Amino acid sequence: MKFTIVSQEQGQKLGDYELRFVMKDKIEGMPDQEALALAGFKDGSVQDLPSVKRVYVSIKDMSPESLRVGISKAVGALKDHKIETLRLPHLKASFRDDIEGALTAIAEGFVLSNYSFDKYKKEKKTRNLREVFVSVSGTDQPTAMRALEKGKLLAEATNYVRDIGNEFPQVYTSVDMTADAESLALKYTNVSCEHFGRDYLKKQGMNAFLAVNQSSPYGPALIHLTYKPREESKGKICFVGKGLTYDSGGISLKSNPYNMKSDKCGAAAALGIIKAAVDLDLPYEIHSVLGVTENMVGANAYKPDDILIAKNGVSIEVNNTDAEGRLVLADCLVWAQEEIKPDMIIDMATLTGACVVGLGGYTTGVMGNNYDLQVEFKKKAQESGELYTVLEFNDPLRKLIESKVADVRNSVPGGTGGAITAALFLDRFIKDEYKDKWLHLDIAGPAFDNDGWGYNPPGATGAAVRGCIYYLMAK
Ligand code: BES
Ligand code: ZN
Ligand code: ZN
Repeated sequence: MKFTIVSQEQGQKLGDYELRFVMKDKIEGMPDQEALALAGFKDGSVQDLPSVKRVYVSIKDMSPESLRVGISKAVGALKDHKIETLRLPHLKASFRDDIEGALTAIAEGFVLSNYSFDKYKKEKKTRNLREVFVSVSGTDQPTAMRALEKGKLLAEATNYVRDIGNEFPQVYTSVDMTADAESLALKYTNVSCEHFGRDYLKKQGMNAFLAVNQSSPYGPALIHLTYKPREESKGKICFVGKGLTYDSGGISLKSNPYNMKSDKCGAAAALGIIKAAVDLDLPYEIHSVLGVTENMVGANAYKPDDILIAKNGVSIEVNNTDAEGRLVLADCLVWAQEEIKPDMIIDMATLTGACVVGLGGYTTGVMGNNYDLQVEFKKKAQESGELYTVLEFNDPLRKLIESKVADVRNSVPGGTGGAITAALFLDRFIKDEYKDKWLHLDIAGPAFDNDGWGYNPPGATGAAVRGCIYYLMAK
């Protein structure tokens, strides 16, 4: 999709079609007021008027998120049209004093909502829209162009993650994720990639990660990508992603593991963050550590009752093989702290169903030991339009993961407080000097949705990519 800045005058005539925003239901003064009134246009409406080649969208304000959602409705209304080019109403700097944020959001809205995963369908969705004309005053053209370009790149990195999340488990294994990481490093000169398999994990004592992999025909992959900025680095940030290319639950088999191809979305997001960081020239040294494997059933599978010694020497009683993500992350977190020594570490994981129950399907749970950091992260990350809620630790919940036979157990029978007890488990693998520098993001809800919402088409959403990048850009 191409975004072109045009003059106000050109902006009134170019394009096959026009998109108009309406504040709530305020249609007075609009060129098609009468037609809109007849069509019953109201707050929240989207109305396509093919005879005058205009589509009207009601938005509640000019905030970046309202623009993204509004544009997604327009894209939805025009999806079967043959329209190739579209013009937007002239944008003035007056609204919300953040014309650049608005332009970025406009580009995000188009590129995010125009996505579809139809690789395996004979009938592909037609995507004719290829160019959007934007006229703007109150900012210079290069600045406006940069803001649009930023939104486009952010959305493309998100779509890249969606493609990985949507890929099915038979074709997308640890081997494929490794190949994707390597191609990122090949494509960009300032990205490097190293990856390790079973033998290395054994030498490193990463027995929790290895146990989860035990019954998969595909070996485990510990993937490490590094992005080095061209300008001076403002700090070293490490992302750690849960990459379960499939989670059957293992011996504690899930009653229906449908959709568990989405259990790799944390690792996919960690790849997308690297892509976005390069494309946007972020001034941070960024590391992504991906723990990739399947959790399968079979004669070799690890078992409830096993006791595993993780890389940091902590012994773990397995009482549920479906609480596997935390086992993979435990070793990866220890590895990342020791090998990378970052200034900050953020893990992203589709970790618990409890987080989905507690927060609903659209919100990421933000956990850790540093409340101020969690709140700061939430505030900055949600400027992306993604939803984040801080969940606080407490000592009574911490007691629930104690084990009678090991240092810790991997799940709590009964499962109340499941999102927090999972994070408290991860905390056992965070060194003292990192306690305040660690954030855990449970993306089990927003990473994948069979129906889609807003500018997220059905399937994987690329959750946490834009949130984390917005956080870094505002940090
Ligand atoms: N991958 C799942 C969590 C999940 C659930 C992700 C729903 C996306 C949607 C995770 O590995 C899991 O199975 N967690 C268990 C933990 C329990 C056994 C303590 C869960 O949430 O039920
Ligand atoms: Zn599981
Ligand atoms: Zn899982």
